[in-house]
Amino acid sequence: MKRIPMIAGNWKLHKTTQEALELVKKIHHGLPQPGEVDVVVAPPFTAIKTIADFLKKSYIAVAGQNLYWENTGAYTGEISAPILKEAGASYVIIGHSERRQYFGETNETVNKKIKAALDYVMPIVCVGETLAQREADQTQEVIQTQITESLANLSDANMRQIIIAYEPIWAIGTGKTATPAQAEEVHAFIRQTVADLYSPTIADQLRILYGGSVKPDNAHELLAKKNIDGALVGGASLQAELFIDIIKSI
Ligand code: 13P
Repeated sequence: MKRIPMIAGNWKLHKTTQEALELVKKIHHGLPQPGEVDVVVAPPFTAIKTIADFLKKSYIAVAGQNLYWENTGAYTGEISAPILKEAGASYVIIGHSERRQYFGETNETVNKKIKAALDYVMPIVCVGETLAQREADQTQEVIQTQITESLANLSDANMRQIIIAYEPIWAIGTGKTATPAQAEEVHAFIRQTVADLYSPTIADQLRILYGGSVKPDNAHELLAKKNIDGALVGGASLQAELFIDIIKSI
């Protein structure tokens, strides 16, 4: 089964709405013709509507960077799936390691958020090990637990909507990328884990993105690997030329 590659830019806590609009205009203008690639940008919440309105005639889609699992209620400061959808998002990043590290995200809350997202926006679910875990040879164990618990009790139809991003924590924002072989090994392991949990067909359709210091000069080699279906880009997605070059490297 052919999986359409995806390049997603996670802008994290960068860009006011005005700055976000300038960046997305540059990306839009420099973008290659629509081809066999899905392009997504994830600006801060307050910029989503402006960006989504601008991108209406483009093939770039918009993602939220987080959401809460209740749709409405007394949850000060939270944003829900229907609100994200109304603002123009069609994806949401869930369980990014920065949220796990600084905001107490767990596999259990990731699972609740995935279930809350599914009727509205497609989840991009992040997993990844720390350097200490990799050095202690625990990578597979950690990833298996994250996948099993985060993706617990979903239907096959739900699983077809989900994208996974493997982001080794030691490679995020450090300039240290996993080698294509290291990344491929974990991606293949994630696919096998999903095949065991759900089915080989679901696993075969699943898109698994790599994230962690992806740049134009390493993107091609990573994306050429059989089980790497795209990239979740942080730093390099804040510069239009770099992000476009990564898209072109597909
Ligand atoms: P960098 O590309 O800056 O390493 O960030 C990766 C990331 O966290 C994307 O979600």
